Amino acid sequence: MKRVIPYSHQLLKETIQPGDVVVDATMGNGHDTLLLSELVGESGFVYAFDIQEKALTATKQRLEVHQQPPRELILDSHAHVENYLKPEHNRHIKAAIFNLGYLPGSDKTIITTPDSTITAVKTLIDHLTFDGLVILVVYHGHPGGDIERDALTAYLSQLDQKSFDVLRYGFINQKNHPPFILAVKKKSRN
Ligand SMILES: C[S@@+](CC[C@H](N)C(=O)[O-])C[C@H]1O[C@@H](n2cnc3c(N)ncnc32)[C@H](O)[C@@H]1O
Repeated sequence: MKRVIPYSHQLLKETIQPGDVVVDATMGNGHDTLLLSELVGESGFVYAFDIQEKALTATKQRLEVHQQPPRELILDSHAHVENYLKPEHNRHIKAAIFNLGYLPGSDKTIITTPDSTITAVKTLIDHLTFDGLVILVVYHGHPGGDIERDALTAYLSQLDQKSFDVLRYGFINQKNHPPFILAVKKKSRN
């Protein structure tokens, strides 16, 4: 059985093709931005968001070390994703990924929050292509993580099943609030 992070990467690999438009909603140290960049290739487009300058520095460096082209690294909340989308990318996002919580080894009080996370998810699912995917890796052991988990689960649970598949994937016998995945796939029209 795949662990949570490898499974999130498997879902991205199964979904993304060269040339696609994708979003890393929580850039952090840039591990997911790098994977997205490799998957979309030269002809693709990556938007990556974080509210911490150090995340942009770390991600830019990671992309350079791995000889990736420059990507759209944005110092702003993912809640404002709509303000940054190029017109030609409207409703053309193939995939987006969130790793919720705080940046490991950094300030544990800078965390993702329910309002901005849900605003960003709403915008991104609106801009998905058919068969496009939004993945959230939910960490909920830190203060506030439980509130974000519950708000997000409540919001995603009520999405219309005619339009979206919503998956929850995780291990239920692990100690200490193991992370889990919530993934939303926009169904094709037929
Ligand atoms: C768990 S870390 C992400 C780890 C990252 N995926 C990686 O590969 O290193 C969560 C990140 O979300 C960022 N963050 C918190 N609130 C945010 C917001 N409203 N918009 C964008 N990023 C945010 C934090 O600064 C932190 O870097």
